[in-house]
Amino acid sequence: MTHRRNFLKYLAASPLLTSYSAFAQEVEETLGERLIDPSEVINVFEMEAVAKTNIPPAHMGYLNTGVDSDETLRANRDGFSRYQIKPRRLVNVSETDTRVNFLGADAESPIFLCPVGSQGAYHAEAELGSARAAAARGHHMVLSTQSSTAVEAVAEAKGAPIWHQLYPTTRWEYTVAILQRAEAAGCTSVCLTIDLPGGRNTETQSIMTREDDRNCSACHTGTPKPIFDGLDMRGVGLNNPGLTWDVIGRMKETTEMNVIIKGIEVASDAALAVQHGADAVWVSNHGGRATETARGSIECLPEVAAAVGGRVPIIIDGGFRRGTDVFKALALGADAVGIGRPYCWGLGAFGQVGVERVLDLMQRELLIAMRGSGTPVLNAIGQEYVHDSGRRMPGATFVRDLM
Ligand code: GLV
Repeated sequence: MTHRRNFLKYLAASPLLTSYSAFAQEVEETLGERLIDPSEVINVFEMEAVAKTNIPPAHMGYLNTGVDSDETLRANRDGFSRYQIKPRRLVNVSETDTRVNFLGADAESPIFLCPVGSQGAYHAEAELGSARAAAARGHHMVLSTQSSTAVEAVAEAKGAPIWHQLYPTTRWEYTVAILQRAEAAGCTSVCLTIDLPGGRNTETQSIMTREDDRNCSACHTGTPKPIFDGLDMRGVGLNNPGLTWDVIGRMKETTEMNVIIKGIEVASDAALAVQHGADAVWVSNHGGRATETARGSIECLPEVAAAVGGRVPIIIDGGFRRGTDVFKALALGADAVGIGRPYCWGLGAFGQVGVERVLDLMQRELLIAMRGSGTPVLNAIGQEYVHDSGRRMPGATFVRDLM
């Protein structure tokens, strides 16, 4: 953190960045401390600044890390700049409707909460705060295998069916046990994560952990995740490097839940997922936490949508921070859009009400984008509303991104 502050001071003094004043630097640096009520936070980037004042650096590092040099992480954001919105005018947008039903789940918005593990590391309310916020605002939620809170309690807090993310594990009988428990808790879909067969190198997390001299070992040891209760996890891997496409059939023989394949980035895998019986395809690069130097999620969407050809729903996550990002994904073929880090920033900043604020901000921005482009309902948002410039546009670098 100190080196970044020094770097900011250097930037402020640099003739290369004359428009950036020391005053602006001060504003950026103290922003997180000055925003004391969720209603004062005007976008998710500010929510991140508040979260940083509350969440210990080691935990913030876990949340915000990518892998290696974080290039896929950055590509998730930069990828959006390749697409520009093509608005239509003089359409009656006085009534807007963002309600969706995907795989039987009704929601007020296509924006849903992605699985993020260990939410107890961000706020004492943990996944219960997220679930209550999602319930209060009518958004859908997917719970992580690595949840700090038991699936039964989260489902109860949500008061409506949630979905469960699944790490396949190296023992099939454990996978079956997790599927059975999730189904018994009322989950209606299971999302199999397939993008981490080879391990990963979360350097940003390691660097931020070094900067944290607090002892937070209690957060990491002696607390096996509740989904593994009763299972001896010694020697069992969460990710199974031997997994192949037949896993979809095996899962469908085991559970009545919809099987969603999470971690698809190319057309041929999307086609294989559908061919093997997936009920939905999830375009994701694990928030830039799996394969390094991949494309941004949004850049993978058009080829996946073409390969799926409307046979099953498509959902996507990866770098969504603005309503316009969500709009672009809906135009390029997604049925729903997941956010991960932003709502955890809200959770870390203010608990449940912070998550509600993040959902409100992104939903409001989505509505503005819909009205501004002449698409009052979701199924009006087609490909013709987005131009693919074929290359990423050099964007402004906000100093807050460097802090
Ligand atoms: C969990 O899914 C993680 O990326 O840490």
